[in-house]
Amino acid sequence: DSKHGFPVPNVELHAAVVLAMLMEKNSVTVEVPINIALIKYWGKRDEELILPLNDSVSLTVDALFARTTVTVLKGASEHEVSVNGKLQDLTKSSRYSRLFAEALRQRRKRGHNESESNGSVGVHFKVTSETNFPTCAGLASSAAGFGAIALALQELFSFDDVEANRMARLGSGSACRSMLGGLVRWHAGESDDGLDSYATQLFDESEWPSLRSIVFVFDDMEKKVGSTLGMRRSVETSALLPHRALVVVPQRVEKLSKAFEERDFETLATVIMQDSNQFHAICLDSHPPLKYLSESSWDFMVMVQEFNDSMGAVLAAYTFDAGPNACVFLEKTSVANFIKFANERFCLPQKGLDEVREDYEIDEDLRQNS
Ligand code: DP6
Repeated sequence: DSKHGFPVPNVELHAAVVLAMLMEKNSVTVEVPINIALIKYWGKRDEELILPLNDSVSLTVDALFARTTVTVLKGASEHEVSVNGKLQDLTKSSRYSRLFAEALRQRRKRGHNESESNGSVGVHFKVTSETNFPTCAGLASSAAGFGAIALALQELFSFDDVEANRMARLGSGSACRSMLGGLVRWHAGESDDGLDSYATQLFDESEWPSLRSIVFVFDDMEKKVGSTLGMRRSVETSALLPHRALVVVPQRVEKLSKAFEERDFETLATVIMQDSNQFHAICLDSHPPLKYLSESSWDFMVMVQEFNDSMGAVLAAYTFDAGPNACVFLEKTSVANFIKFANERFCLPQKGLDEVREDYEIDEDLRQNS
């Protein structure tokens, strides 16, 4: 399936932006990027409030994003959400209703309460969201999407950062991490009400400006078992998961943060790959087992290992979420060598190569190689 792959260059790692706001403040457009977890979130202690078992850490990447407009509808009888032109069936997803209900609750606390007691007619939201990448392919589309809704609601109603962050979390856990740029930590928290479960920035996007990520899409089909169901299965059946959540992750969060602070790429890369491996080991330890990696994913992992061996140093790190597609982290100076090496094994498509050729001084002759 590698024939369909295309590398997507993510030029910089930065935060969400507010694009436009109408004068009366009843409509806001924002752009919120995806984030890629370096230490994975897998398993909830509360499914309703989306409270995780362990902290997680991610990098926000700017090239793949959701552009979302939220409009306040007064007098309408229901919310309306469309994603990439497709109207969502809100009766099938409590995520939107939970997020909207929380926004309206916080808004009431601020003294806005006109007509909301009036049965079904009150304040509702119209959401129009477009992503510039395939949704449902394990590329954190829901993180960008729900993060964008929460940011737009924050702009509309002046919620504080933590309030808005908790709202994003109610839509999709990983979404709270997308609301911040750079290296981001979602604190699992300990409380039952989730007030202490939100994301904070560990380092902003200027901390390590030479860091790059490349996403390799092998397969953009929807995954068979979505994250929510998959993690429920792991919580119910994996004997390894409690050890991961209680013992391994706290140590890794510390190690990774220190490596980032010291710009120690080798340690950072090793933690990233080990955590991806362990997440997929938990998936296999679930019953029935969850298989998100494909043959191409395995070939890719071997290729990264061979690349690092050939360079005599750990210069690239892979990570895989709940899907077969790879994300590679590396420094800018390694991009050309890595692309060249990957192209020899995987025959990368011309479109992807052309996108990175100029910025990374990749030889013209790569065309012939592929
Ligand atoms: C493997 O945030 O999509 O990408 O909270 O149920 O919406 P819900 O799950 P979601 O899970 C992401 C899982 C992961 C790892 C990660 O991003 O940390």
